[in-house]
Amino acid sequence: MVNFDFKNPTRIVFGKGTIPQAGSLVKEHGGSKVLLHYGGGSIKKSGVYDTVVKSLTQAGIDFVELGGVQPNPRLALVKEGIKLCREKNVDFILAVGGGSVIDSAKAIGVGTPYDGDVWDFYLATAVPQKNIPVATVLTISAAGSEMSNSSVITNDDGKFKRFLDCPQNYPVFSILDPETTYSLPAYQVGCGITDMFVHAFERYFTTVKNVDLTDRLCEAIMKAIINNAKRLMNNLQDYDAAAEIMWCGSLAHNNLAGTGRIGDFASHMIEHELSGFNDVAHGAGLAIVVPAWMKYTYKHDIPRFVQFAVRIFGVEENFHNPEETALRGIEALSEFFSSVGMPKTLKEIGIEEKDFAAIAKKIRKFDAANDTTGNFLPLKSADVEKILQLAK
Ligand code: NZQ
Ligand code: ZN
Repeated sequence: MVNFDFKNPTRIVFGKGTIPQAGSLVKEHGGSKVLLHYGGGSIKKSGVYDTVVKSLTQAGIDFVELGGVQPNPRLALVKEGIKLCREKNVDFILAVGGGSVIDSAKAIGVGTPYDGDVWDFYLATAVPQKNIPVATVLTISAAGSEMSNSSVITNDDGKFKRFLDCPQNYPVFSILDPETTYSLPAYQVGCGITDMFVHAFERYFTTVKNVDLTDRLCEAIMKAIINNAKRLMNNLQDYDAAAEIMWCGSLAHNNLAGTGRIGDFASHMIEHELSGFNDVAHGAGLAIVVPAWMKYTYKHDIPRFVQFAVRIFGVEENFHNPEETALRGIEALSEFFSSVGMPKTLKEIGIEEKDFAAIAKKIRKFDAANDTTGNFLPLKSADVEKILQLAK
C-alpha cells in the first residue's frame, strides 16, 4: 500500500422522498442567497424543479437561477454563472441534475471569488484558494461528481475538455433520491452504469502491490453494478436496483476504494478527448476505449487481468494459459457494455481514423517530464494512437 490522506466531507441524504429537505439543508449549511443551477430541462419535466423550488421557498431562501447546462458542460456558461453570482451576491450553489450540472456548479463555485480566469484552474496554472459552497440534488447515477473532488469542463475554444481536482470541489451535501432516475432514457442509464463501472475499474488497475482490501472494495462495486444493471435495464423503475446503482455511482468515485493505491485513469483521459472532440456521452466513449486499452496493456500484468476475469466475471481460470483467461475477461467486459446499450467502435460515434493523431496529441499528460498519461502503463501519444486504432 502507498501512503494516503483521505477525507471525503460530503454529507449524503439518501432515499425516496428526500428532495423536500433541500431548503432546510441549504439553511443548515449557511446558504442564504442561492444559485439554482440546472441543465436542459429534464428537471422541469420530471417535477424535481418544482419540489426544489417549493422547498427553498418554504425555508425562506432567496434564489436566482441559471439553467441550460449542456452534457459536457461548457466554460462559457460557467463564466455566465460567475458573473451572476458576483452581481447577486450569491453565497451558496445548489446544482440539480447530473455530473454536467454539478461540474458546472463546482467551476462557478471556485471561479466566483477568483480574480483571474477560471480556466487557469483547469490548465493547472493556478490553484483554487476558496469557493462558494456547492450542494447537489442528483438526477442520474453516473459520474460520481456528487461525492467527488473533480469537475470536468469543456472549452469550445480549441475543444479542450479538462478536469480540476481540489478539496473545494467536494459538495457539502448531496441528496440522492433514486426515484428521480425513473425519467431517464435507457441509453443514459447505460452510459451512467458504464462510467461508474470504469471509475472502480481504473482504480483496480494499479501497479501497487498488497492492496487486498481496496481490491475487494473495487470488486464489490464492480460486481454490484453488474448484478443490478441487469435488473435495472429490464425495468428502469425497479427501485431497489436503481438505489443500488445510485449508491454504487457515488462509492465508485468518492475515492475510498482508491486509498493506498494509484489508479490508472488513462482511459478517462482518452475519453475526455473524444467528448471534447465530438461531444460524445462520456460513458459511451469509455465503453469503446476501455476494452481497447485492455487489449493494449494486458501483457504488462497478466495476473491482474486474470484476477479481474475470474473475480468479476467468473471466468474459469486456465492455469496452462493465463493469457487466454485474461482475454476472456476483456471479452466479458465488452459484452457487459453492449448489454447496457453501449457502442463498440469509434466509427459508431463519428470519430474517424484521420482524427486519431490529433486526438492522441492533445491528451492531458500526467507526467510532463516523460510526456505520458496513465499510471498502470504510462502511455505516450503514439501508444494512445495505437489504442484508438484498436477501437476503430
Ligand atoms: O440537461 P438535462 O435536461 O437535465 O438532461 C440530462 C442530459 O441530457 C439528462 N438527465 C439527467 N438526469 C435526468 C435526465 N433526463 C431525464 N431524467 C433525469 N432524471 O441526462 C443527460 C446527461 O446528463 P449529464 O449530467 O451529462 O450526465 P452525467 O452525470 O453522466 O455527467 C457527465 C459529465 O460528467 C463528467 C463527464 O466527463 C461528463 O462531462 N465527469 C465528471 C466526473 C466528476 N466530476 O467527478 C467524473 C467522471 O469521470 C466524468 O468525467
Ligand atoms: Zn468517468
